[in-house]
Amino acid sequence: MKLFIDSANIEEIKKANSLGVLDGVTTNPTLLAKEKQKPVEQLKKICREVNGPVSAEVIALNASDIVKEALQLSKLSENIGIKVPSTVEGLKATKELTSLGIKTNLTLCFSASQALLVAKAGASYVSPFVGRLDDISFEGMDLIKDIRLIYTQYDIKTQIIVASIRHPLHFVDAAKLGADVATVPYAVIEKLMQHPLTDIGIKRFLEDWRTLDTKQK
Ligand code: E4P
Repeated sequence: MKLFIDSANIEEIKKANSLGVLDGVTTNPTLLAKEKQKPVEQLKKICREVNGPVSAEVIALNASDIVKEALQLSKLSENIGIKVPSTVEGLKATKELTSLGIKTNLTLCFSASQALLVAKAGASYVSPFVGRLDDISFEGMDLIKDIRLIYTQYDIKTQIIVASIRHPLHFVDAAKLGADVATVPYAVIEKLMQHPLTDIGIKRFLEDWRTLDTKQK
């Protein structure tokens, strides 16, 4: 499973990249707004940092405006993939963008029916939001299970990005269910490697090592 960082913050992206495990970046309007920079400039900076796909989201809602905005965004760098909302207008735009060879990431996906249709329209990626489903008492991971089953059954090549990840268990469940990508906020990426028994083990090894006298070392 590939690991993307869900962030528009350069420092976080640099830190995640330095771990040697980063495959790409997803941004969204909320994440870019937090940075208080010109979004286009921020996206260019992000693309310079990372050797992999970077998702940039359109603001437009109707198909022809989505395509126009997507064409502008895709000029920023060859890493850019276009995040398009999972709507009827988004479908139309996806079909056109796909025919132009532009990669798309269909975002705000909350149902298997949306996931099946966006794949038929040619989406490169679909982003089901597990955390936001959990927030309203629906099991987000059930959606991943359903999409994986449908895509495998019909040999659909659209990649599943598990999005709206809130904790390490979401990441592990995504991998167990055969998701193609998990997009993870930096704070959760750090937690993926934390384990209290690792910390206790290191402490104990170092204490035992110190009991040797200098000659024995
Ligand atoms: C995915 O591409 C989105 O940017 C993101 O995962 C949304 O997460 P949130 O529900 O925590 O805002």
